Amino acid sequence: MAELSRIVILTGAGVSAESGIDTFRAAGGLWEQHRVEDVATPEGFARDPDLVLGFYDMRRAALEKVKPNAAHRALAHLEREFSGELLLVTQNVDDLHERGGSTDVLHMHGELRRALCASCGVRSEPDGPLIDRPQCPACEAKALRPDVVWFGEMPYQMERIYAALTRADLFVSLGTSGAVYPAAGFVQEAKLAGAETLELNLEPSEGSHLFDESRQGPAGTLVPRWVDEVLSV
Ligand code: OAD
Repeated sequence: MAELSRIVILTGAGVSAESGIDTFRAAGGLWEQHRVEDVATPEGFARDPDLVLGFYDMRRAALEKVKPNAAHRALAHLEREFSGELLLVTQNVDDLHERGGSTDVLHMHGELRRALCASCGVRSEPDGPLIDRPQCPACEAKALRPDVVWFGEMPYQMERIYAALTRADLFVSLGTSGAVYPAAGFVQEAKLAGAETLELNLEPSEGSHLFDESRQGPAGTLVPRWVDEVLSV
């Protein structure tokens, strides 16, 4: 492996699967248990706010029962030891990268542990269920929604992500099916800008053929091995 100076990593639900968090598109996954239109769109929230708040309250509460796994910890180790630039972008709304030790994580689809005030736009960290309609700490409106990006909304910090992709010499996609844009298009963006591209996933994803290299296996095994390779150059 050539010496690397700028790496962008994109993670998806697969990186948290071995921690016990359901992925979205597997048989029995979250999108088989719940309809996307009901729980992950602004229209669904307008139609039945209690259903939506309850869904995210349940997912936030479930975070207390899980722990980061070897893949999260290996990425945190990479952040500490890599001498070049590293951008860790996640589509995940859990906080397992942070609990695994990463300090700079870009949550492009938002974060379960945060709430967004629909009235004043301030973000906060609620300490109880949103279904109880707590007040916004800034404006006191009882208008908190989960700070997650729903279908039809713009993912966060896209400018920072595209800027890093155009400078990267390696783009790594980890534990994601490549079914949701814009994240699914990052591989082509990086490639156009001249980066090498690597996929680490349990099975070939929809976009596997777009990568220079694709490795299959559980993240908890593949990621520590890959991090060791990067740090040993
Ligand atoms: P998916 O459920 O679509 O895909 C998870 C991927 O992880 C699949 O390709 C699995 O094969 C792989 N996988 C499962 N277990 C793994 C393991 N132990 N190690 C490595 N890979 C494993 O989840 P995402 O791609 O993250 O968006 O989904 C992307 C977005 O779609 C989510 O952020 C969410 C969802 O709708 C929004 O809600 C906006």
